[in-house]
Amino acid sequence: MGKAGSKVLRQTSVDGVPAQPTPAVAAPTATVKFEGLTKTTRMKVKWTQLGLVFFLILSLVMTGCFFWQYQLPKVLPDEGTGRNAKSEMMCPRFPEPVQLEHPIPSLKEALEKVDVLLRQSINPISLPALSAIVILNDTVLWTGNFGKRNASDPLSGPPNEYTIYRIASLSKIFPTLMLYRLWEDGKIGSLDDPLEKYVDNFTIKNPLGKTGEVQIRSSSVTLRRMASQLSGLPRRLRATNLLWKGKTQSAINLLQDDVLVADPGTKCHYSNLAFSLLAHVMAERVAGIDYQRWITDNILDRLGMEDTGFDITPGLQTQMAVGVYSNGKPAPLYDLGWYRPSGQMFSTAADLAKLSMMLLGAYHRKLLEPDSLKIMLTPLFRCDKDYFANRTGTPWEVNELMGYEMVRKDGDLDGYSATFSLVPRLKLGLVVLMAGSRLQNQDVVSKAYTSIIPAIEKAFREAKRVLFPPPNPEPYVGFFTYSNITFYEIKVGADGVLIMQQFGPQIEELIPEKYRTIKLNYLVDRVFRVVFEKEYPCVLRVGSASVSLEAQDGQLFNFYTFDKRGLSPGFDAPGLNTYNVVRIAHRPSFSS
Ligand SMILES: *[C@@H]1O[C@H](CO)[C@@H](O)[C@H](O)[C@H]1NC(C)=O
Ligand SMILES: *[C@@H]1O[C@H](CO)[C@@H](O)[C@H](O)[C@H]1NC(C)=O
Ligand SMILES: *[C@@H]1O[C@H](CO)[C@@H](O)[C@H](O)[C@H]1NC(C)=O
Ligand SMILES: *[C@@H]1O[C@H](CO)[C@@H](O)[C@H](O)[C@H]1NC(C)=O
Ligand SMILES: *[C@@H]1O[C@H](CO)[C@@H](O)[C@H](O)[C@H]1NC(C)=O
Repeated sequence: MGKAGSKVLRQTSVDGVPAQPTPAVAAPTATVKFEGLTKTTRMKVKWTQLGLVFFLILSLVMTGCFFWQYQLPKVLPDEGTGRNAKSEMMCPRFPEPVQLEHPIPSLKEALEKVDVLLRQSINPISLPALSAIVILNDTVLWTGNFGKRNASDPLSGPPNEYTIYRIASLSKIFPTLMLYRLWEDGKIGSLDDPLEKYVDNFTIKNPLGKTGEVQIRSSSVTLRRMASQLSGLPRRLRATNLLWKGKTQSAINLLQDDVLVADPGTKCHYSNLAFSLLAHVMAERVAGIDYQRWITDNILDRLGMEDTGFDITPGLQTQMAVGVYSNGKPAPLYDLGWYRPSGQMFSTAADLAKLSMMLLGAYHRKLLEPDSLKIMLTPLFRCDKDYFANRTGTPWEVNELMGYEMVRKDGDLDGYSATFSLVPRLKLGLVVLMAGSRLQNQDVVSKAYTSIIPAIEKAFREAKRVLFPPPNPEPYVGFFTYSNITFYEIKVGADGVLIMQQFGPQIEELIPEKYRTIKLNYLVDRVFRVVFEKEYPCVLRVGSASVSLEAQDGQLFNFYTFDKRGLSPGFDAPGLNTYNVVRIAHRPSFSS
């Protein structure tokens, strides 16, 4: 068992997972371009309706102004009959992460569910030990350790956060971090450089690259694609298994008569070869130092990942959870040789928590610039239905969960399984390390998130928001209008924070006051951010018009420089393509 090389890295995350039915992915919602819309709006909307315009006219949901290329039969799910049946969608849909004051009862409850879930996934034969850790921004929310560290020892205790597990394909995170670091350091010119820029004689056949003409040279196996399962490189070097102990030059020689399985950049195809080749080439040809040495010096030491590495020494084994096959037999600790960058590493829950915090941009020790982190956490490509993830990133697999992007890396190697996952938008992370084989019939990581995410959202929604008043409110206080169509009053609230209220004919009867009143959070000189303090309907329907409140939440107001009297003469809301909201001397009176 596990002797044949092909068995060694049985990433379930790879070909093992049955093809999942992929529902048609939401087409990018027709984001309406508002260029020049104002005019049309004013022409088409009856004057009587203008009073309904909440805030900024541009957020009126307009359909009449566009010529659609195709006339499709309209599906009207909630017109008429279903109107009341459908509960109104409340916003903000994605609450912003804020500092939380723990303990939070609903969060505790959710974590108790996760505890039960993971405890129940322990199986004394096939999955004797499991350690998990939940990270929120710069803190560890919870850690759970279940089962026994050594199933064949009756006296063995449970694992803990410092118990060592093999992390298998989670190792692929590290060549990617190296790529970004070398790029930040200028040693790699571009993430999109072709591999052959750094290796003499790298060629591989790319018959799918150009129809009709067989290209011998490949020019589009780029570094980024190699780290994103998009290079088209085969899974492994031909005639090798994952225990192959060759040299990088031999690998390059073997590739000269090999063939890309897909034209680079066109198809998700899982490749251990791509990550190993990338790692060795960067180390030997760019950094000029052994790959493991580089990772140890530049990442592990820097982040204080003390119990993470490549070489499993006898001393280390006493700290390890004993990995087993599904029949309970201890699995040998295979050494992956040239493929080490793709799957050799071991780590602990505590160490991977540090890595999570770093990737969430919240760890006190820095590794990558914030901008590189943004690039790293952005998905790159939508995969075919038969791939095991919806999208691929660098180096992640990306799926959608409760409306959030979840980036993850799974690893499955003889005796061990592991998942490293992040929900960047919520600053949330979950790491699960297992000695044994993961449950086949359910994904405990996604399941755990379905408890944690709603609890975190609720906590963020209910957290007291800290809003800042301007140093001096006077320049901003007063009455404003947008083209004599909409009118606003800005006042100072009890806490010094500015309040803005819309007024005018009809609006006062039609729109509840709480949705006509917003707070302005002072950010920097003359710039404020719109804040809806409480939950609000994403779309406010008034008669036949609808107004997107969601589009207004979080917008920036940029006030003009102060005049001789020390007053700001007006402001812009560039995010709504709205300019020249100007000050008026006093409250206008409306006739009729
Ligand atoms: C996240 O952690 C960083 C670093 O400690 C901190 O500056 C930031 O305010 C935190 N953000 C939230 C939303 O808690
Ligand atoms: C696990 O326990 C068995 C039985 O006591 C023992 O033979 C083995 O060496 C232990 N393994 C480790 C890694 O501690
Ligand atoms: C590259 O290929 C050429 C011609 O096949 C050969 O002479 C040369 O030694 C190769 N270079 C390396 C570094 O292998
Ligand atoms: C792919 O995305 C769809 C819709 O977002 C989701 O229902 C499905 O479960 C996803 N596939 C996987 C493998 O997560
Ligand atoms: C608004 O109406 C007033 C009074 O009718 C007029 O003087 C002013 O020029 C108008 N402003 C705009 C921006 O249309």
